[in-house]
Amino acid sequence: PETETIRVERRGRVAWITLDRPEALNALNAQLMREVVATAKELDADDGVGAIVVTGSEKAFAAGADIKEMADKSAAEMREADHFGPWLEFARVRKPVIAVVSGYALGGGFELALMCDVILASDTAQFGFPEIGLGVIPGIGGTQRIVRAIGYPKAAELVLTGRRIDAAEADSLGIVSRVVPAAELQAEAERLATEIAGRSLPALVAAKAALDAALETGLEAGLALEAEQFTALFDTEDQKEGMAAFREKRQPEFRHR
Ligand code: HXC
Repeated sequence: PETETIRVERRGRVAWITLDRPEALNALNAQLMREVVATAKELDADDGVGAIVVTGSEKAFAAGADIKEMADKSAAEMREADHFGPWLEFARVRKPVIAVVSGYALGGGFELALMCDVILASDTAQFGFPEIGLGVIPGIGGTQRIVRAIGYPKAAELVLTGRRIDAAEADSLGIVSRVVPAAELQAEAERLATEIAGRSLPALVAAKAALDAALETGLEAGLALEAEQFTALFDTEDQKEGMAAFREKRQPEFRHR
């Protein structure tokens, strides 16, 4: 389907979603949300896709929710429009999602990155929750995910002050998976996404489900879920192929089923 606020490309088993509203530093308006969510759901259902990359421009991953679109709304109108609800579906994608972040990842943009499994950042990346300065708060998971990512005291300082942090600080706090020099971001993103997408799809989906369980459940329940996901993989062709390849000292050829 046609999209106006994002570009969608496939390279091998990797699908790239590029946020593309340069006039607004990729601010997340309703149309962009609908296009990202619908595209992500489609790619999640496509066996030819092993990993999804979400990225922006050099200057901005995304500068937050679209302030101009929501400025005049009442609470009732915000509820009615379900302005942010669909983002929950993006966070439910079963396949690995990689955020490739250059420049601003602020407010909803930071929250979108936090919904992804891996965050690869350029050394130019800047993260922050400026919402408090606008008289609001993060609204698509920011408060919940940042506490889980870095613990309450560090998270509270970021949310309550709106202080912007650079890539190095984000790295030291454990917010990002890895930081690379700006000039290497594209190549490294391509390499990382291709590596992940080439793995067995059932194993990737099981791994993400197990990782998610670590955020959602207690230890006992999480261990049970992990054990079940692990065990169930023994009925997949890819597990047989992966272990046969090891014994035969060759690379596996996964069939992704
Ligand atoms: C709408 C935005 C925008 C946003 C930037 N623009 N951010 N429009 N919503 N969030 C627009 C600007 O109005 C401007 O267009 C153009 O993009 C370029 O931005 P500039 O401000 O001129 O660029 P610069 O001086 O480089 O400053 C970059 C910036 C600043 C520091 C990122 O744009 C900024 O502070 N943006 C707002 C960041 C923010 O507060 N985000 C949180 C939003 S609330 P015009 O046409 O005016 O020149 C939020 C809540 C999430 O995210 C809750 C659930 C989703």
